[in-house]
This record gives sequence, C-alpha cells and structure tokens, in this order.
Amino acid sequence: MARHFLADDDFSKEEVERIFSLAADLKSRPVQPLLPSKNVALVFSKPSTRTRVSFEVGMNQLGGAAIYLQTGETQLKRGETLADFAKTLSRYVQGIAARMESQAELEELASNSAVPVINGLTDRWHPCQALADLYTLREKKGQLDGLKLAFIGDGNSNVARSLIRLGAKMGVQVAVASPKEFAPGKDALKGTKTRVTANPKEAAKGADAVYTDVWVSMGLETESEARKKLLKPYQVNGALMKQAKKDALFMHCLPAHRGEEATNEVFSGKQSAVFDQAENRLHVQKAVMVTLMR
Ligand code: CP
Ligand code: NVA
Repeated sequence: MARHFLADDDFSKEEVERIFSLAADLKSRPVQPLLPSKNVALVFSKPSTRTRVSFEVGMNQLGGAAIYLQTGETQLKRGETLADFAKTLSRYVQGIAARMESQAELEELASNSAVPVINGLTDRWHPCQALADLYTLREKKGQLDGLKLAFIGDGNSNVARSLIRLGAKMGVQVAVASPKEFAPGKDALKGTKTRVTANPKEAAKGADAVYTDVWVSMGLETESEARKKLLKPYQVNGALMKQAKKDALFMHCLPAHRGEEATNEVFSGKQSAVFDQAENRLHVQKAVMVTLMR
C-alpha cells in the first residue's frame, strides 16, 4: 500500500527531522536526479500560485515531470467518480499532489490511489505549508525546541490547524489569538499544549514568530463581510509586533491581503519572512516527494 501525506500527524518527529535535513541538502544543491523519469499529477480544484509552481519546479529538478490537472478540466467535471479517477491516475503516475475542496475528498482520492497522495491544502489542513514554515523558523532561529509561535486571526484556518499540530510535534509552543467564533477546533488541539486566547497582545507577548493567514479562506467567500468585521481587531500591525521579541519573525503563508490581516508595513518590513517561507515550500516538498515516491 502506498504511503500518503494527508495531514500533519502522518510523519513522526524523526521523519520530519529527516525531511528537514534532506530539504537543506536540496536547497544547497537543487538539481539532483533522485526521482528520474517519475511523474507526479497535480490535481487542483482551487487556485494556487506557490503550491503548483513549487511542485512543478521541484519535480523537474528531481529529474521527473509534473502534470497539472485542474479538476474542472477533467472528467470529474462530468461525473467520473473520484475513485475511478484515482485508480486511473495510479496506472500512469508515481505520485499525486492534490488540492481538494474538502479533507473527505482528499481521503477518498487517497484510499483509491495505489501511489502516494500528498495534501496540497484542504479545508482542514495545509501540512506542506506547516512543514515549510517550521523549516523556515528553524533555519532563522537555529532550532525549534522551546520557540514560541503566535498565530493571530482565523485560528481554525487550515494553516493555523496544521501549525498547531506540527508545532506541538516539533517542540514549538503555539499560542493562538482569535475571536471565539474562529477558535481552533478540538481535533486540532487534541493532545497539544496550545494556548488559546481572544487577546492578540497576550498571544504575541514574547513570541519568536507572529503568524497570520487571510481572514477569508478559499471557499468561504459568502462569509466575507462577517469575517472581516470579527477579525478586524486581530490585524498584525507594528504595535502588535512590538509585543513579540525584538527579533521576532513576521510569517504568512501567502497569498496576502495587505491592509487586512496585516499592514503593508509589516509585510514589507525587515522582520518579514514571507518570501523565505514561499521559497522553502520548494525545498521541503521535494524532500517529501523523495521520501514518499522513491
Ligand atoms: N501558501 C499557498 O499554499 O499558496 P498558493 O495558494 O499560492 O499555493
Ligand atoms: N487559509 C488559506 C490558505 C491559502 C494558502 C485558504 O485556504 O485560502
């Protein structure tokens, strides 16, 4: 049976450390033919800039190729089942990276796939993002153990939820500040020591990194107005950054809505690590593909 990466709990701490070491090696020598002639299908039902490009470029640098499949342009659009789709793809490609509407759809795809399936974002989790983010944090701070990461805003977003789980695994103290309507779900918090508060200053106090995500995730556009109203007090601005350590990083998964979840000044400021995070998606996902597909 193929091994999948569907959520943050699928790799052990030791495996994450091995992925980080391999990613560092791939970052210093990007072109290494570790997956020669292998193909990965990129099955996307939502837009993407980073995830798509980093998987495509990554696979090319590993000696293989990537095929981008927008689900609306496949026979899924005309009623082909996800099961038949997955079984068919498994006869052609050696791996699938998928961005689906829901975690349930991703799991349906994976349970019918004979090749590894990698989660490229669902409504529940964004595990490739969290891996790249903790890799970035470690790269900048030297180690992860005991660092404090404050997540401010939509505490139940896919990105927040993945950071909570991976942070707990890797020894990062995660504090979340969100309105109670957007507090992290019990399934994300289970077994972790995450501090959850409604007060952004309290969460940001003494943090090594202050992280935020968009207020309106893909698929939630109908809630746009209500979300923006509730989340307004959670904007990451210069005053909030001052609560954190002097050398704290500002982090964001991107795409950003400048002037909403964070000010332009914070996005473009010298503490901002957002483009390093984006770059590290490439190195870390290459390490994930090598781990699962070789
Ligand atoms: N952070 C992230 O996953 O970006 P894209 O939506 O552009 O892939
Ligand atoms: N929470 C955001 C992340 C985008 C990378 C979304 O789902 O739209």
